[in-house]
Amino acid sequence: MGPQYRTGLGWDVHRIVSGRPMILGGVHVECDFGLEGHSDADIVAHAITDAILGAACLGDIGMHFPDTDAQWKGADSLKLLAHAVLLAREAGYDVVNIDTTVILERPKLKDYRLRIRESLAACIGIALDCVSVKFKTAERVGPVGEGRSAEAQAIALLIRR
Ligand code: C5P
Ligand code: MG
Repeated sequence: MGPQYRTGLGWDVHRIVSGRPMILGGVHVECDFGLEGHSDADIVAHAITDAILGAACLGDIGMHFPDTDAQWKGADSLKLLAHAVLLAREAGYDVVNIDTTVILERPKLKDYRLRIRESLAACIGIALDCVSVKFKTAERVGPVGEGRSAEAQAIALLIRR
């Protein structure tokens, strides 16, 4: 039997474009630009999905949800995240907690923190105080800092049932 605790790391990046929505952790952020992608381009959901898959040693998001698969085209990324939680559960693991950082130059996201945490907690099926969401700018440096892309990092802790 494997170890009782497992951690996993996730990261995602999407281009910033006009005429697309900005969805972070399943929450629509008011903004005059959005994120490009095959799905809804929810970098937070994608990074957490990879963190959970990673912790359970179940590969990565592209392996389970290929962007060539019509089933996932335009998909609500919370569905992918919920499916990753299910896969981890089938492998014998429950999610303990999640921590995530969104790196985006603008807009300010702190007023969305609680809504994003609530959305993720409901999707993953864990308590609100087990979901942390943090925000950072890139100090105007690099593609994120120049407003050309947005990134999210995530870490997940799983416990064996
Ligand atoms: O990147 P920086 O250290 O300047 O961020 C300062 C604070 O601004 C962060 O701790 C976060 O609370 C907030 N922030 C935000 N939305 C962003 C970037 C940062 O609310 N897009
Ligand atoms: Mg993505």
